[in-house]
Amino acid sequence: MRVLSGVQPSGKLHLGNYLGAVKQHIELQGEDSALYFIANYHSLTTVQDAALLRQLTLDVALDYLALGLDPNKALLFRQSDVPEVTELAWILSTVTGRGLLERAHSYKDKVAKGVVPSMGLMCYPILMAADILIYRSNTVPVGKDQVQHIEMTQDMAGYFNNKYDREVLVRPEPRLNAAQIVPGVDGQKMSKSYGNTIDLFDTPKKTRKCIMSVKTDSTPVEEPKSPDRCSVFALLRLMASPEEVEEWSQRYRAGGMGYGEAKGRVAELFEGIFGPARERRAKLASDVDTVEDILSSAAAEARVIAGEVMHDVREACGIMVSAKGTR
Ligand code: ADP
Ligand code: TRP
Repeated sequence: MRVLSGVQPSGKLHLGNYLGAVKQHIELQGEDSALYFIANYHSLTTVQDAALLRQLTLDVALDYLALGLDPNKALLFRQSDVPEVTELAWILSTVTGRGLLERAHSYKDKVAKGVVPSMGLMCYPILMAADILIYRSNTVPVGKDQVQHIEMTQDMAGYFNNKYDREVLVRPEPRLNAAQIVPGVDGQKMSKSYGNTIDLFDTPKKTRKCIMSVKTDSTPVEEPKSPDRCSVFALLRLMASPEEVEEWSQRYRAGGMGYGEAKGRVAELFEGIFGPARERRAKLASDVDTVEDILSSAAAEARVIAGEVMHDVREACGIMVSAKGTR
């Protein structure tokens, strides 16, 4: 079974990204074949500053490696190191109807948030389908908001296979994480675009301050509180052991506990998980040559797989590449 996922280098990683995506990527790295790539072509739809894109791309690599991605177990590479993916995106676009793309929620959401509605943004799901199909991926771990893109990928694989009457492309399945929606400090879904994130690699002091600012209601300390409607409790639930979660649940309901205390525990749990990762990240950041080696060796392996699939795709649709032009 092949697991594959991509992450856009479009800003600092936050707790929502970790619990919703990265954590399960790392847990799945023991599968037969696990491929994770930094979706830098995708980020061009929002990041149009060369130096910044280079920096953000390196940041994702540092983040994943610091958080436990083991280059011996999974391939971590840059999307652009396998440029054939853009060729497959073009080929898929010729068998995909415009209506499919016009129904994409994420396109509509991004435009509503002020992202320029470029052709790239509109065709984003086609490039994403190419990312997945070019490695004949079986399982794609993603957050809930990406499921529609995986369904579109299944459709595109079907359009191609039907059109050329061959089972060239493999239909992938999405895999959702348990932590479907992580709340931000204001109680809404945590997201860079809402400015409500708890970032993974801020200083301990800044992180603590941020966690202490999580919005709660104004129930006085002595009164019972509802764990189910509290963002602090939601964060506890995502980070503490089941026994500890149960204890907090009882303390909430009993009253006599202030939100400040629960927030303090979230900050402590956060530090326990991400403190060591922060140190690993700082070390890696001072040795970018090693990081570059990891990315480029992984890309070479990924490109071999992509090359085989592209050979079959080109053959199926009659696209010829002369021996001299073969990449
Ligand atoms: P953002 O909303 O901050 O821009 P992205 O859209 O870049 O985050 O998300 C990257 C990955 O992290 C996706 O798989 C997404 O589903 C997951 N993710 C982002 N925010 C959350 C959240 N609040 N809860 C759960 N998963 C999340
Ligand atoms: N669209 C994904 C996101 O914003 C990133 C992504 C690009 C991706 N290509 C992919 C995820 C392929 C899974 C598979 O989070």
